[in-house]
This record gives sequence, C-alpha cells and structure tokens, in this order.
Amino acid sequence: MKGINLGLIGFGNVGSGVVRILRDRRVFLAEKSGLQINIKKICDKDFSVKRGVNVDKSLLARSAQEVIDDPQIDIVVELIGGVHPAKDYISASLKKGKDIVTANKALLAQEGRSLFAEAALRGKNIYFEASVGAGIPIIKALREGLIANRFNSIFGILNGTSNYILSSMSSNNCDFQSALKEAQKKGFAEKDPTLDIEGIDSAHKLILLTYLCFGKFVKMEDIFIEGISQISLSDVIYAKELGLEIKLLAIAKKEGKELEVRVHPTLIPEDNLLASVNGVFNAIHVTSDLAGDLLFYGPGAGQMSAASAVVSDIVDLAQDIKAGLFRPAMSIIEDKSVQRLSSIEEFRSRYYIRFMALDKPGVLAKISGILAKYGISIASVTQKERHKAHIVPIVMIVHESNEKYLRHALMQIDRLDVIKEKPVAIRIEEI
Ligand code: HSE
Repeated sequence: MKGINLGLIGFGNVGSGVVRILRDRRVFLAEKSGLQINIKKICDKDFSVKRGVNVDKSLLARSAQEVIDDPQIDIVVELIGGVHPAKDYISASLKKGKDIVTANKALLAQEGRSLFAEAALRGKNIYFEASVGAGIPIIKALREGLIANRFNSIFGILNGTSNYILSSMSSNNCDFQSALKEAQKKGFAEKDPTLDIEGIDSAHKLILLTYLCFGKFVKMEDIFIEGISQISLSDVIYAKELGLEIKLLAIAKKEGKELEVRVHPTLIPEDNLLASVNGVFNAIHVTSDLAGDLLFYGPGAGQMSAASAVVSDIVDLAQDIKAGLFRPAMSIIEDKSVQRLSSIEEFRSRYYIRFMALDKPGVLAKISGILAKYGISIASVTQKERHKAHIVPIVMIVHESNEKYLRHALMQIDRLDVIKEKPVAIRIEEI
C-alpha cells in the first residue's frame, strides 16, 4: 500500500487531535482510502505542554525548517495560526514541492490570493476545510458537490463565540457582558475576544466562502463589519416580542450586478432555520441555482471537529498524490455577472429602530417627521413602559429603506433635545 508522509507544523489543540485520529484510525483510514498515512515529523515551539497523545520522540522536530527541508515529506500541515510565520512556512513548503493543509482562515483571508497563485504555479494545492465551520464539510461541498451551480447568496453563522453570547442573551435574559463572561468561563471565548465578537473572524471566513461561490477574492477593507458588543439585552427582548431573533450573520449576496459582502448583527424571523441555530453551533445557508437552498449545520469549533476536517483534506491530497494528479483545489471561475461590490450606504433593508425619548406630547411627531423627510416609512411603532423617569423606549420597524438616508435621519433625530440616548438601528434580513 502506498505510503504518504506528513509533516505537522503546530502540535496544539487541533494538531494533537489530528495525530490522535491518524494513530487511532490508522487501519480504518487505510481500508477506506487505500493509503497508508505516516506522520514523519512534528514540530512545535513548546513540547512541554501535555497534549494527551503520546508520540515517538524521534518524530519531534526542533524547527519548522526541518519539516520543510525533509524531502520525504509530501504534505505539510500548518496548524500554528496567525499570518507570520505561517505564511513563510507555507510558501517555503510549496517551493520544496509539498502540498499544504491548513486551518488558518486569518492567513488565507489576508494572503490567500498570493498563496493560491503560488501553489497553482508549482502544481501544488492548499486545502483548508477546517478554516470555515471546523468539521462541517462546507468547502468540499462548494468546491465539488455543488460544482455545477451558480450561487445567489450565502448567509452564515460563522462564529460560535458570538452565537453562544447572542443565544445566551436571548434565552437567559442576560446582558452582553454576563454572557461573554460565561462564555469565557466555559472556554468558548478567548481572554481577548475581540476577533470573535467584533465580527473579524466571521469576515475572514466569509472571504473564503465568497471566493468559492462568486470567484471574487474580496479584501477585509471591502467588507462592512459590525460586531455584537453594542447589542443590548433590551433590543434582544423587544425584537423577540416582534418575532425576530438576533444573529451575527456573515452575508454575501448578489443584488443585480452587485455583490454585497457584510458581517453584522441581523434580525431574522424566529421561524427561519438560522434562528434556531444556538450556542457554539455554526450554520451556512447557500442559495444555489440548481440544488436550491441548502443549509449546512454543526459544531463550528472544537478539537476533534476541526481535526476531522484536517484529516479529510490530508486524505484528499494523498489520493491525488498517489494517483499522480494535480487537481487544483481552487479552479475558481469568476462570476462575471457581478460587476462590483456595493457599499453599505447603498444597502436597503427593513430596520428595527429604538429611540430613548422623553415621554411627552409631540415626540413621536418630531421623530416621524424627520423619518418622512428622508423617505423612511414606518411599518410599526410601539412605546414601551418607562425605563427611567419620563424616558421611554420607542421601538419601530421601518419598511425597506436606504441605509445612507436612515443614518442621516437618525443623526438628525439624535440631535433633538427629547432624545436621551443614541438611537439603535438593527438590519432585518429576509432570507
Ligand atoms: N473562534 C471561532 C469561533 C472558532 O468562535 O467560532 C475558530 O474559528
């Protein structure tokens, strides 16, 4: 049976999961794939941390260079995360004729364009199934299972940490800070949760999905990104009363000749399937022209879930190496019907809006007068019970409006002396 040799750079949580699967399921994988997958070298900057998996000391390498320089290694598995030195290791490995498996979405979102080009130039591949949705096979599904399709939209709950916090606010009536603390206590949120709660991790993943679906490699600065740290419990509760659930959605959507690419807290009807994706789970809804609406759901993080995706990439690459094939992972065809990315200012949707206003005659008339001036039409309005003396929350849903005009209107309303807090606006998405 043909043997394929791996070099592993990064022996952390996911890396040790990969080693465990390849060791414990060696025979199972060999029977399924007809391949013997051997770990030839493992490199990590610190081997003193207990990983719960014993490895032969002869496999341990002192530096990544040892892995890269080993002529017997066919596939380099990069699991250290971050842009540097991961990029340099991948680039050097490609130059040495190795294929790559990585879970590094931050690196691919920033440097993917040049790394994929370098891989193609050398007849090598970079596989990255674990970078979006961990063990959910979304990359393979888009790349292979749906190859005949054109896509209209992607709606993703791509960050488990944010989804855990929002679900917890919604079902336990706790505020953002308490939900975050609880997520940190349970090990779901990092000590510094910025990348997750500010939508950056979701945006990294959205770049990869947008590339696969629309053939456009968008830059981070082209994506409108808003996180969940400003979401208040009152809005979660008021929205729920209106039959809406709040989710941090990563969205790429074709509107005529334009593509909207955005990440922000979004209100969706409670009977939409994405509304019942709770806790650390991820889900990706894609609209394709032949296969229709598809929903991929599962744990979006976790050692064995991510390791499962990494092993799937390793086996895929190993099959190609065995067959002496180069099957480019990224034969991306640009969707020529998309002529440009649209800006958030051009964006139109229904909105949930909350004002904190003085409870006295004429206030609603002033607010609605300004909205009317900007062509914004109110669909419903509710005045809630008083919070503090004479100050009441006024919750509105407005019909589809232009974001730019809405922002202008809200700025003007905010300047009224009867308005006591900055107005809140949350986009409502019809999926
Ligand atoms: N930090 C990510 C999340 C998991 O919270 O979903 C890794 O992509």
